Amino acid sequence: MNEKILICVAWPYANGSLHIGQTAGAYIPADIFARYHRAKGNKVLMVSGSDSHGTPVTLTAEDSGISPEEVFQKYHQEFLKNWEQLGITFDLFTSTHTKNHEKVAQDIFLKLYEKKLIYKDFMTQPFCAQDKRFLADRYVNGTCPKCNDNNARGDQCDNCGVTLDPKDLIEMKCKLCDSTPILKETEHFFLKLSAFEETLISWLKTKNKWKPNVKNFSMSYIKSGLKDRPITRDIEWGIPVPLPNYENKKLYVWFEAVIGYLSASIEWSDNQESEITWEDFWKSSAKSYYFMGKDNIPFHSIIWPAILIGYENLNLPHEIPANEYLNIEGSKQSTSRNWAVWLPEYLSLYDPDPLRYAIASNMPENSDSDFSWKEYIRANNDELVATFGNLVNRVMTLVHKNFDSKIPESEILDTDSNKLLENCKNQFIQISEDIEKCKFRSGLMKAMALAKAANQYLDHREPWKTIKTDLEMTKTTIWTCLSVINCLKVVLYPYLPFSSQKLHTILGFTDNHEDSIKWYWDKKLLVSGTKIQKSDPLFKKLDDSIIETETNKIGKN
Ligand code: MF3
Ligand code: ZN
Repeated sequence: MNEKILICVAWPYANGSLHIGQTAGAYIPADIFARYHRAKGNKVLMVSGSDSHGTPVTLTAEDSGISPEEVFQKYHQEFLKNWEQLGITFDLFTSTHTKNHEKVAQDIFLKLYEKKLIYKDFMTQPFCAQDKRFLADRYVNGTCPKCNDNNARGDQCDNCGVTLDPKDLIEMKCKLCDSTPILKETEHFFLKLSAFEETLISWLKTKNKWKPNVKNFSMSYIKSGLKDRPITRDIEWGIPVPLPNYENKKLYVWFEAVIGYLSASIEWSDNQESEITWEDFWKSSAKSYYFMGKDNIPFHSIIWPAILIGYENLNLPHEIPANEYLNIEGSKQSTSRNWAVWLPEYLSLYDPDPLRYAIASNMPENSDSDFSWKEYIRANNDELVATFGNLVNRVMTLVHKNFDSKIPESEILDTDSNKLLENCKNQFIQISEDIEKCKFRSGLMKAMALAKAANQYLDHREPWKTIKTDLEMTKTTIWTCLSVINCLKVVLYPYLPFSSQKLHTILGFTDNHEDSIKWYWDKKLLVSGTKIQKSDPLFKKLDDSIIETETNKIGKN
């Protein structure tokens, strides 16, 4: 049973630091999923990269007086560092600014152009008379025609998620000089989305296991009429249209960014030795999972599938477990108001696992959820430290003190102990199912319930007392707890990889390399007589004063 799992994770724009909302939307769920499947022995390819082109990057460059290339490089390096610190295990995190990506994107463009699925046409575009330039996407602002939010951009309204064309905006304004642009005719290339309407509808109809919001949103998007979309822009930074006389036009960032999933897989393939290639993940029985926040849904459930259908012979997305938004301290996150928790800042001050825990236990899987520092501290102190960490600590202390630091022998298991181990086995199976279905919150809750059950067993058995009266029973108690702790190590590994790895060493395993933890549990996995290791506690208690210090930073510019 060796499956091939392609994990595609939304490409962050390389125009600013990451915030924890993005980790909740895409990176943490994707990494939990990837670690689970790797530990299970499946072949995983997890790819993403910096989205380095388009107006988000050029606007930042203009604001900060450096080149788009420098902006992209700066944040690309920062992202790579963040993944390492947070333990996000991409097989390749590349960028859209590579020769390989340019080649793949241009090849797809040309193939669709030959098939007449991309065609030339004229359109009117906002043109700023003062700045003497066409204003693509984010160079115009205005009021959203759907929800009336007055901060909508030319490409999308962040408030309601609708994708827009600049001329849909009410009271459109030039972002550079605030004047009202005029509409002027220009030639562009269009993706013939209308040609895919029926194929996409029948494909979406088969997706009965998708989250209702993802499926319904995509269906109604198509049913409201799939319009052909311009996929080129009049900007300087980006991938040139691969046709003579059109080199000055660039491929629209969204058209080429989604192609990144394929080009990154090819890049990965070119750079590694094993027999397995990108095609193994894109053809035949391989399954692809796309992780992203909800604002990215239509690009992955409609536009990318349309491109793939047009290009032919590659797998369409199998699952799109998109997440909703993570609000911060009760309000919608906003980078312009600095209403965010910035990832590099977090990682410079605190450990990665408590954030992974806070995010996974409160993941916006089916509706928006909220991050607050108060809840973060509570979860760390009451759940990680007091439940899981304390269980490990209590048991290890008893082993060091009474059994010469060695895993004791257990002769016969009594009913009580068998019951806990049976519970453990059931939870193990159910947690696997949860993770496979991308129900990460539920899986984590079950793991923590198991830790709680083990603590109760321990309280009830009182091995610190029975050690004086009943050695056999005490051995059984400790052995049973160690076996459950070993199970917790496995089931929590996708969620809390750093702590699990530490626990692996504590439990006396010597094969302690990156992927030594296997998704397997049997009560007899621990060998009596093995020496356990001394170590610091798995988690640090955090001071309540952090709540005030951190909440004070939010919203200050
Ligand atoms: N850069 C886009 C964003 O942050 C996401 C792109 S996902 C991709 O919203 F697949 F298109 F790359
Ligand atoms: Zn202007």
